[in-house]
Amino acid sequence: MSDPRWNDVEAWIRERVIPDDDALTAAVERADAGGLPSVQVDPTMGKFLNLLARMTGAQRILEIGTLAGYSTIWLARALPADGRLITLEYDPEHAKVAEENIAAAGVGDLVDLRVGAALDELPRIAEAGEGPFDLVFIDADKDNQHNYLAWALDLTRVGSVIVGDNIVRGGRTLEDPENPSSQGMLRFMDLMAADPRVDATVLQTVGSKGWDGFALGLVVE
Ligand code: SAH
Ligand code: DHB
Ligand code: MG
Repeated sequence: MSDPRWNDVEAWIRERVIPDDDALTAAVERADAGGLPSVQVDPTMGKFLNLLARMTGAQRILEIGTLAGYSTIWLARALPADGRLITLEYDPEHAKVAEENIAAAGVGDLVDLRVGAALDELPRIAEAGEGPFDLVFIDADKDNQHNYLAWALDLTRVGSVIVGDNIVRGGRTLEDPENPSSQGMLRFMDLMAADPRVDATVLQTVGSKGWDGFALGLVVE
């Protein structure tokens, strides 16, 4: 589902509050040149993640799903000089492009990219005591969205923020509930509802990526 007016409005927003940015433009160009899927967050969501990290004073950020590092760069730019962002990526080809983009954006010292399946890496992060994280951005394989929320809840503290991307997926989450990606989102929302450690909402979004939505959770206990 899309409507050309959503793109017009997104362009109008970008022209005013999201200046053109060489590092982010180059990151998308490298991703396209490498044949990576063009599913990074749109600029308005990237800026939102950056503002959210700054508003909450995040010093430690966990990202699940790096792709080419587009959202990573937005988030890393919000960190103080002694901050740290761990980002998890399964596909070595994506990770290679991401490393290049992250270095070229000048945030290489803040970012620790780990290549592997997130469900293998997350227990290592827990065992190594690398949490708690102030902000977790979940944006990897959709069928594991609920598993990533469970890990996020274990790796955060009261006051931490959890963002889950792609909750709505053009309406498919509700229209095609047996689809594995839908299952991940449905179970993610059921866990959000049932777990007393988190209070949450979902904001539906429209724009260049069509109709979607993201979950925003606050860890409360
Ligand atoms: N956050 C990125 C987009 C991520 S797209 C941005 O907005 O710029 C989803 C990414 O998750 C893809 O690169 C995909 O390879 C990765 N992924 C898929 N399965 C994964 C897994 N099991 N563990 C870690 N990453 C995974
Ligand atoms: C897909 C992944 C995403 O993270 C996203 O924001 C949109 C689409 C996908 O794999 O189709
Ligand atoms: Mg996404």
